[in-house]
Amino acid sequence: MILITGAGGQIGAVLTKALQKRYGLDKVLPTDIRKVAFDGDLFELLDITDKTRLVELVNQYQITEIYHLAAVLSATGESRPVFTWDINMSGLLNVLEVARHTSVKKVFYPSSIAVFGEETSLELAPQFGALIPTTVYGISKVAGESWCNYYSLKYNVDVRSLRFPGIIGHETLPGGGTTDYAVEIYHAAVQGKTFHCYISENEKMPMIYMKDAIRSVMELMEAPKDAIKVRTSYNLAAMSFSPKEIAASIQRVLPDFKIVYEPDFRDDIARSWPDQLDDAHAVRDWGWKPEFELEGMTGDMIRCLG
Ligand code: SER
Repeated sequence: MILITGAGGQIGAVLTKALQKRYGLDKVLPTDIRKVAFDGDLFELLDITDKTRLVELVNQYQITEIYHLAAVLSATGESRPVFTWDINMSGLLNVLEVARHTSVKKVFYPSSIAVFGEETSLELAPQFGALIPTTVYGISKVAGESWCNYYSLKYNVDVRSLRFPGIIGHETLPGGGTTDYAVEIYHAAVQGKTFHCYISENEKMPMIYMKDAIRSVMELMEAPKDAIKVRTSYNLAAMSFSPKEIAASIQRVLPDFKIVYEPDFRDDIARSWPDQLDDAHAVRDWGWKPEFELEGMTGDMIRCLG
């Protein structure tokens, strides 16, 4: 039985459905700090900082896998640094401790392009290299990756993790991230609105379509245990583009679409992140291969939102 934290979030809502489809409605327990409606009868409220409640749920439902998605993202995190650190770290440590002492056998933990900073090679960030982030969110992910590695080495907890690029999907809206513009831009475009972009026009970031992101989680989690060699977090790559490039791809479908640039503090965050990640280890260890490029994603997003 699988437990998901943050099931109402951008990734959580889509991943919950995908896991329900694959393993059955009665094998997936979505949880969130707020009530969220899902197919089937299973749902529980869970504040991830409440370890006692997490232990209760794990015992009650005989949980064997946890997908720990609850977190505060990069842009929101900057206005509440200590709160963000508390939520992101105590949430993960609760999950890891529970995995160490209970029926839980496997854990999924999303990391992020936010672990990198300007001391790494930003054109193509390597799997192993300097991780000196400038956001609280990034700091929590660097520490989180190291805790995952530690629990794997010391306690043989089977924790698996991916450094996600910005995730773009039509099903859900992200909240409080730096890469959110790349989802919001499609909503503006199909509604015929001018998009006010808080990232400068040539600032590239790594991105991935939701369908590929969900598949990457499934494939990572289903890979044989001994294939997983990286126990901090795998670089994951799919596509890379700037606001100008995504706007142009939208204009090829919706020629009247307009964008104006009004960069704010999130543009500085974006500048400290890589353009693309070198995901050779993910390719080699468990066969990662993305399917969507920018044009295919734009076509799909506009079809689904239109
Ligand atoms: N998409 C996230 C953010 O922008 C990065 O992991 O905060």
